[in-house]
Amino acid sequence: MDPWEPYRRHLITHAEHPVAAPLHDDAVAALLDAALAHVPGGGRLLDLGCGEAPWLLRALATRPSARAVGVDLSADTLASAAGAAKRLGVAGRLELRQTSAGEYAPGDPFDAVLCVGATHAFGGLLPALAAVGRHLAPGGCAVVGEGFWERGPTPAALAELDADPDDYADLATTVDRVVDAGWAPVHGHISSLAEWDAYEWRWTGSLTRWALDRPGHPDAPAARETVTAHRAAWLRGYRGVLGFVTLVLRRDEAP
Ligand SMILES: C[S@@+](CC[C@H](N)C(=O)[O-])C[C@H]1O[C@@H](n2cnc3c(N)ncnc32)[C@H](O)[C@@H]1O
Repeated sequence: MDPWEPYRRHLITHAEHPVAAPLHDDAVAALLDAALAHVPGGGRLLDLGCGEAPWLLRALATRPSARAVGVDLSADTLASAAGAAKRLGVAGRLELRQTSAGEYAPGDPFDAVLCVGATHAFGGLLPALAAVGRHLAPGGCAVVGEGFWERGPTPAALAELDADPDDYADLATTVDRVVDAGWAPVHGHISSLAEWDAYEWRWTGSLTRWALDRPGHPDAPAARETVTAHRAAWLRGYRGVLGFVTLVLRRDEAP
């Protein structure tokens, strides 16, 4: 433990998460299996808003001939991804691009295109799906993770999330919108309350430990204030109100 390490909040809060979204490890594995079932050996993957690239790193580590491109705006998360890729021995098969996901120019199409917890990079679910579709090879799979309202959003949830009621829909409407946009769900995962709670305890717990272990660090007070605010937003605001669904999709070309 380095008592003077720079305060990189995003890396600290996600340090114990399988991915930067409320999914347990086995759900991540099952979604990747479903997305890549049709690709012998692993194929080519693209992750738009990849963060620390946990989806791609897992795919590369378990599929020796897979290759992947990760796109994100954050230099910190991409540096973390690059370090992890080196440690796993997959760096030669992972290309990382620091650019806005919407500006990543389509080249050769990909067998799987992911956008989990990053649809805001495109202005919402439907424009994100359109962008994903532009990068996808015929017969390929999209993996898209998006929020939805578990129940009608309360004023407290909207305030804590700084959200509008129209930012999300209920689960059935969310899936209807995806289907109406020309996609067929072939697999999916609805995050449970237990997955959300584990995600939030790890988010707040990692940051709390970081601050407690570095009492003299100039950023320790700010870290503790962030924990207090985040925990209040979760427990007094969006817990049980905001849901998260991850869909594995193929283009539906049926007439
Ligand atoms: C909640 S994280 C999800 C990361 C990753 N998809 C995962 O599941 O672990 C959202 C990511 O989207 C990235 N992001 C936000 N806006 C973006 C944009 N316009 N272009 C690319 N990445 C963006 C953030 O930097 C962040 O890493």
